[in-house]
Amino acid sequence: MSWSERQQGMLRAMGLRLWSPPAAPGVTPHSPRVPPAQLAAAPQAGLAVPPPPAPLVPALGRAQVARAASGVGQMDWPALREAVASCRACTLCDSRKQTVFGVGHPQAHWLVVGEAPGEQEDQTGEPFVGPAGQLLDRMLAALQLSRATDGPAPPEQRVYIVNTLKCRPPRNRNPQPEELAQCEPFLVRQIELLQPRLILAMGRFAVQSLLRTDEAIGRLRGRVHQYQGVPLVVTYHPAYLLRNLADKARAWDDLCLAASVAEREDGSGP
Ligand code: URA
Repeated sequence: MSWSERQQGMLRAMGLRLWSPPAAPGVTPHSPRVPPAQLAAAPQAGLAVPPPPAPLVPALGRAQVARAASGVGQMDWPALREAVASCRACTLCDSRKQTVFGVGHPQAHWLVVGEAPGEQEDQTGEPFVGPAGQLLDRMLAALQLSRATDGPAPPEQRVYIVNTLKCRPPRNRNPQPEELAQCEPFLVRQIELLQPRLILAMGRFAVQSLLRTDEAIGRLRGRVHQYQGVPLVVTYHPAYLLRNLADKARAWDDLCLAASVAEREDGSGP
């Protein structure tokens, strides 16, 4: 990957280090990549495995029942989109303007999972369009990744973006366990249909939903987890980064780790 002048300037402006493509054999890479110790520690493809599902988000356990009962697990993309749009499984449907299904190319290799729509997402129907989304887009663009659904970009440069909740919580309050449980079958089916090569879980609620842990982000980031056999990298939520500039560099390291894993999964890495 080569960096345009504009990208380099943007990264420097954010106080972030440059990411480099895999070094030639025998050359020590100068950017953060998956340290051999991280890759060697795990049973499958050498990756660290998260702890088994814990009861810390008890309501999420009921999501499987809901999913089986609703037939979500058999839906294709159009049926799933329709099911989300007409969902009235929790009280968020009363206050939403519209549901926010997700955006991106259905062959994207990357999946970004966020928290829940905010005001602008509720208005537009697209995830991450507010200030946090603009930061996310800039960080993805620095890795030559895009949420665009058109254009000639190959799947490895495409990102699909979803949230754990498809409806905006009133006044952007935190998602409630019962809401996460009701909405989870949609996220699970989106992942099944997309079959991403890499999942980037941003923020506490995405991590709780996917890894079934309430460990702090700071303790989970920096290594590779697994979701149903898909490598998963944990990072801070962009809205948090807007308030905590010091952690932007760590988030950038997380993206570099994710890029390393994605390249390896794509067969273009070391
Ligand atoms: N924050 C999220 O987690 N998702 C959005 O879509 C917008 C803000």
